[in-house]
Amino acid sequence: MKAEAITMSDAEFKADFPSETIQEGKVRVIVPRLEAFKKQPADYAPSKAPVFYNPVMELNRDVSVLAFQAYQRLVGREISICDPLTGSGIRGVRFAAEIHDVKRIVVSDIDKRSFNLAQQNVHSNGLQDLVTVEHKDANCLLSCHGAPRKRFDIVDVDPFGSPVPYLDSAVRALRNKGLLAATATDLAPLCGVHVKACVRKYGGKPLRTDYCHELAVRLLAGCITKIAAKQDIGVHIVFSHSSDHYIRVYAQIGYGAKKADASVKNLGYVVHCFNCFHREPEKMFSARFLEKCPECGSKMDWAGPLWLGKIFDPQFCEKMAQENKRTAFRNSVRISKLLSRVKDEAEAPATYYVIDKISNKLSSPVPSVAAMLKILRDNGFGAVPTHFNSRGVRTNAPALAVQNLLKAVVSS
Ligand SMILES: C[S@@+](CC[C@H](N)C(=O)[O-])C[C@H]1O[C@@H](n2cnc3c(N)ncnc32)[C@H](O)[C@@H]1O
Ligand SMILES: [Zn+2]
Repeated sequence: MKAEAITMSDAEFKADFPSETIQEGKVRVIVPRLEAFKKQPADYAPSKAPVFYNPVMELNRDVSVLAFQAYQRLVGREISICDPLTGSGIRGVRFAAEIHDVKRIVVSDIDKRSFNLAQQNVHSNGLQDLVTVEHKDANCLLSCHGAPRKRFDIVDVDPFGSPVPYLDSAVRALRNKGLLAATATDLAPLCGVHVKACVRKYGGKPLRTDYCHELAVRLLAGCITKIAAKQDIGVHIVFSHSSDHYIRVYAQIGYGAKKADASVKNLGYVVHCFNCFHREPEKMFSARFLEKCPECGSKMDWAGPLWLGKIFDPQFCEKMAQENKRTAFRNSVRISKLLSRVKDEAEAPATYYVIDKISNKLSSPVPSVAAMLKILRDNGFGAVPTHFNSRGVRTNAPALAVQNLLKAVVSS
């Protein structure tokens, strides 16, 4: 259903709820005035407002602009983008105003008030020739774009909660070598608080470890891999991050059964010892499954199936960092730190140790991250910080070596 075009200015437009005009990136958009919907201090106003808008997600949208611009530069042609869960339209409007060489954007929302507001925001920014606003269920919209020549270069799935209900149609709506971006805010399942919900939604078991946010990214990436593989499509994870209350994965897809087979080989488990914190990856179809910890002999627990492959592509991250230097986002400094951390950890081993957790286990004082990195490197191990946790260290040192070096650093 397409509604009539709205041509009102911001001053003329009257939302039937308290609203205000804000500036984000290069655009000015009308959004709900969140204070008006906060009845108690603990209320989560974005989901109480009649149209969803969350100012905390500005960083998510900024990073998306950078990632999509990086993608466009790498493919070197005009691109099309779909934002099928658009809310106020802010995401699609920003993509249209801020990304170079975009030929077409489709934004849509099932909610009528969101659709109306998104239309207004597209028009008030003068972007109606570039952005089409639809009032459709996301899966219907994406399925209608699942045929050759109708597909998009990029689909951005940014729901409230889990993106899984939309992933199948999102993958089908992507052309070969297209980019899927997906946000997940359901961290309680993904980080192991609600195990059954995670197994149900993502087809993998989570684990409440110190590195559960990385496992969350790997569970979502694994879920995308399985969904794509069913359609003979492979995936390459070019970027991912865990920020604020969500995780986000950027997966470039590639058509072909061989690519799908190669991707499936990256699926597996992380086995973990809750006694000494030893952990190791296990490929999905490997014959062995570690039951006892090789370091301390305790029983191992596990997470998965999940994605064991790379979760950042250094070349893609570098392109994003170059784009970030050209922008003046409110979050540019934070993004620059995020990208430089990610560049360092791109080639480092999967999973990280949180120093405080080991100190707690050893009932020892807590050393600084810098001191731990130094002692690990001085002892011949690789060691880098991680964006996932400001107290985390990625290293190839075995768990008992990490414990011993921590003891040494605090007693020196
Ligand atoms: C988290 S909000 C989107 C926020 C937006 N992407 C942004 O950056 O501000 C999720 C939106 O999805 C819409 N929605 C929920 N279920 C939908 C469905 N099945 N099809 C289309 N839109 C849907 C909701 O109305 C809501 O506006
Ligand atoms: Zn152990």
